[in-house]
Amino acid sequence: MDIIEAIGKRKSIRDFKDDPVPQNVLREILEISCRAPSAMNTQPWEFTVVAKDTLDSMRQAAVDKLTAGEKPRSEHCVAGWPSDSVYRLRQIELAKSLFQLMDIKKEDADKRSQWIERGFRYFNAPAAIIICVDRMLAEGTPIFDIGAVTQTICLTALHYGLGTCIEEQGVMYPDIVRKFCNITEIKQIVIAIAIGYPNWDFPANRLETPRESVDTVTRWCGFE
Ligand SMILES: Cc1cc2nc3c(=O)[nH]c(=O)nc-3n(C[C@H](O)[C@H](O)[C@H](O)COP(=O)(O)O)c2cc1C
Repeated sequence: MDIIEAIGKRKSIRDFKDDPVPQNVLREILEISCRAPSAMNTQPWEFTVVAKDTLDSMRQAAVDKLTAGEKPRSEHCVAGWPSDSVYRLRQIELAKSLFQLMDIKKEDADKRSQWIERGFRYFNAPAAIIICVDRMLAEGTPIFDIGAVTQTICLTALHYGLGTCIEEQGVMYPDIVRKFCNITEIKQIVIAIAIGYPNWDFPANRLETPRESVDTVTRWCGFE
């Protein structure tokens, strides 16, 4: 797949077929993605790929905590926008579009919590990639690099017919991830990527999220 086509085609996938992803395919995706740039070639990413019974146990444990009312909180929080900001407005627009496609009404508390649960279930993906960084690195320093490798994984996955969803929800009970994936305390758990073959019949997978126009987000200096 041509790179421009891949960038245009990548989108978040929030339901997957049951088909497992072969380990060698996941390995190849990671090998290719490690070509991502990093500050001074430090390559601060560390992957844990999880599937089958281990992933199922993680899904169940996370949903149990959620149902018990334990507040989810990741070790590297990516959310938290001022309530009167454009960022919050974009977040609301996203939720509205997803709920419309999924036919979830604002007042339907059950369906809304089922939707939230879906993220903690890794969107039923047959595999998830957990990305960690060593805590010896200063807080926030490797995040640019992690972003670069994360997007590279998502783009590379398309070549194999796979879909992905980058998800903070997948690491919002870090103690569970740590326990089932055997991740030591010296590693900070940053982000998860749900990965698998997309279920194209799932309404939310039809979503095409909008983007601001380049003119809105770009200033040109030194041009006519
Ligand atoms: C750092 C990061 C964290 C995200 N966390 C979640 C998440 O927890 N749950 C979810 O449904 N989507 C999550 N997403 C996906 C975004 O909602 C999605 O990328 C955005 O709406 C743009 O849509 P697109 O990926 O389809 O282009 C996350 C994306 C990023 C980059």
